[in-house]
Amino acid sequence: MAAISARLLDLLARGRRVAALTGAGMSAESGVPTFRSAGGFWENESLEDLATPRGFARDPRRVWAWYDERRRQISACAPNAGHLALARFGRDRPGFRLITQNVDGLHASAGSAGVILLHGDLFRVRCTKEGTSREDRRVPLPEIPPRCACGAMLRPDVVWFGEVLPEGAMREATEAARRSEVFLSIGTSAVVYPAAALPEVAKRSGAYLVEINVEETPLSPLADEVILGPAAQVLPDLLGT
Ligand code: OAD
Repeated sequence: MAAISARLLDLLARGRRVAALTGAGMSAESGVPTFRSAGGFWENESLEDLATPRGFARDPRRVWAWYDERRRQISACAPNAGHLALARFGRDRPGFRLITQNVDGLHASAGSAGVILLHGDLFRVRCTKEGTSREDRRVPLPEIPPRCACGAMLRPDVVWFGEVLPEGAMREATEAARRSEVFLSIGTSAVVYPAAALPEVAKRSGAYLVEINVEETPLSPLADEVILGPAAQVLPDLLGT
C-alpha cells in the first residue's frame, strides 16, 4: 500500500472538487511505452522526424508507418486498475475533471466520459486540406499514407511538437485546474508545456497538489504531497477500487 496522508484521504472523503492530469506513466502498466524512459517511444527514433509538422512534410510515409505501428501496439493494450479507478471515481463525482496528455484512448476504454484530450487521439485522422477529423480505428491502415475522400492526405489527429494545443481543450483544462481543490498529477514527467503549467495553475489557485509517480519530477518540490508508486497501484488505494 502506497503512503497516502490522512489529510488527502480526508479531503477526498469530504467530496472536495478534484481534477487530474495524466501522462504516459498512467498507461505504463497497460504495456504502453512512455516517452522519455529507457525503451520509451523516442529512444531509437528522432523526434524531429516523427513528431513535427516538418518531419511529416518531409516524409509522410515514414511518419505514418511509425504511427500505424503505434496504433497496432496500443490497440492490443487494455486499461489498467488505475484507469478503472479514475473512471469509477468520475462516475460518483460529477464535478471531477480528467485531463490527459495521452493519445492512447485508454481512459475512454476504461469508461471515463468527457476526458479533456490535450494532445489529441491516436485513433482519429485529420484531413490536411479540410481540417476535418474523424475516428479511424483500423489496424493496420489499408493505405499508407491514408487519404481523405477529398483526395488530400490525412494526418494523425495528434499534437506535434511546435504545434499549438486544441484551444478549447486547453481552456477547459485551465478552468478545471483553477477550480480544483485537489489536483492530481499522475505519471507525467511534467516538463512539456503548456500541459505542465496546469499543476502550477491549480496550486496558485489554492488546490492541494498531489503528484503520483514512480520517481520525483521537476514538479515534486511544488507538490503538497508526492506519492511514489505505480499509478495502477496507487490510484485504487487512493480512490477506492
Ligand atoms: P514521459 O515519458 O515524459 O513521462 C512519463 C512519466 O511517468 C515519468 O515521470 C515516469 O517517471 C512516470 N512513470 C513511469 N511509469 C510509471 C508508473 N507505472 N506509474 C506512475 N508514473 C510512472 O511522458 P509524459 O509526461 O506524458 O507529447 O510526456 C508528455 C508529453 O511529451 C507527451 O504527451 C508527448 C510527449 O512528447 C506529445 O506527443 C505532444
